[in-house]
Amino acid sequence: MILVTGATGNVGGAVLEQLMEAGQKVRVLARDPARLGELGRAVEVVKGDLSKPETLGPAFAGVGGAFVVCAGGDLATLAGNAAGAAREAGVRHIVLLSSSAVAGEPPIQIGRWHIDAEARVTASGVAWTMVRPGAFASNTLQWAHAIKTQGAVFHATGEGRTRPLDPRDIAAVAVKALTSPGHEGKAYVINGPEALSTAEQVAKISKAIGKPLGVVDETEDAARERLEKAGLPEVFIRAVLEAFAMIRAGHGEAPSSTIEELLGRKARTYDEWLERHVKAFQ
Ligand SMILES: NC(=O)c1ccc[n+]([C@@H]2O[C@H](COP(=O)([O-])OP(=O)(O)OC[C@H]3O[C@@H](n4cnc5c(N)ncnc54)[C@H](OP(=O)(O)O)[C@@H]3O)[C@@H](O)[C@H]2O)c1
Repeated sequence: MILVTGATGNVGGAVLEQLMEAGQKVRVLARDPARLGELGRAVEVVKGDLSKPETLGPAFAGVGGAFVVCAGGDLATLAGNAAGAAREAGVRHIVLLSSSAVAGEPPIQIGRWHIDAEARVTASGVAWTMVRPGAFASNTLQWAHAIKTQGAVFHATGEGRTRPLDPRDIAAVAVKALTSPGHEGKAYVINGPEALSTAEQVAKISKAIGKPLGVVDETEDAARERLEKAGLPEVFIRAVLEAFAMIRAGHGEAPSSTIEELLGRKARTYDEWLERHVKAFQ
């Protein structure tokens, strides 16, 4: 039995789908099972919250491996709670969704949060695999509202490039680690196949929807104002602005061969991801 957390999100949802396609016995931990929709009716779902350790016992009981996503809170606490429940239940293997930002020299705040989360898992004594992705292609869905209402994308990353990754590829690496031997104690850095600036990604969206789009390179103050208006907490705004500045300065992501090596195929391109999500921008 494999436990999947974060199944209402980008990567956990794809992990759940791929484990089900592979015929694995799966259980899902969800804060609000209703948010799983159709999928929730096809699998065993246990209500639980990684920020509330007292809710985790039933979800981890009888599980061999667990896919753990920590999001929306103090990542180290969430990871520590998951690892503690896994240890108590005798879970053999945790695959943690971490970040390539852990390897920065020095790491940015987002990387430091993930370093602390990884440390809580490694300290638990449960065998682990770290999945360390770079920027997700799905981050560009954050532009959908401005594209639809203003015909433009506002960003603060200048000409800097990331390597957008399809969450399905991140999930495929996690599923490989959960379902085949030899991945314990390994950390897999995953990046997408092409380095693309914001303007280059917007050009692809523009072509896909058949509509010209503006690209507005903002000052840090303007980006801060936009993030404040979106209601993001200050600590998160600071971390995001730091990540934008790092990308703008050209310290994007190095190529990685993890997907070819582990999955024996090329990583999916941003165009392939866009083809599946084009409706979100129309
Ligand atoms: N975006 C990037 O470019 C990027 C790059 C590298 C690493 N990462 C890392 O990837 C992770 C986010 O992955 P994602 O995009 O797949 O996430 P996501 O789409 O934002 O979904 C987050 C998932 O976590 C669940 N969740 C949140 N708080 C929870 C809690 N207290 N207990 C149980 N479940 C909880 C949510 O469930 P609900 O339905 O209950 O809300 C949801 O299923 C973060 O750790 C992030 O730092 C992101």
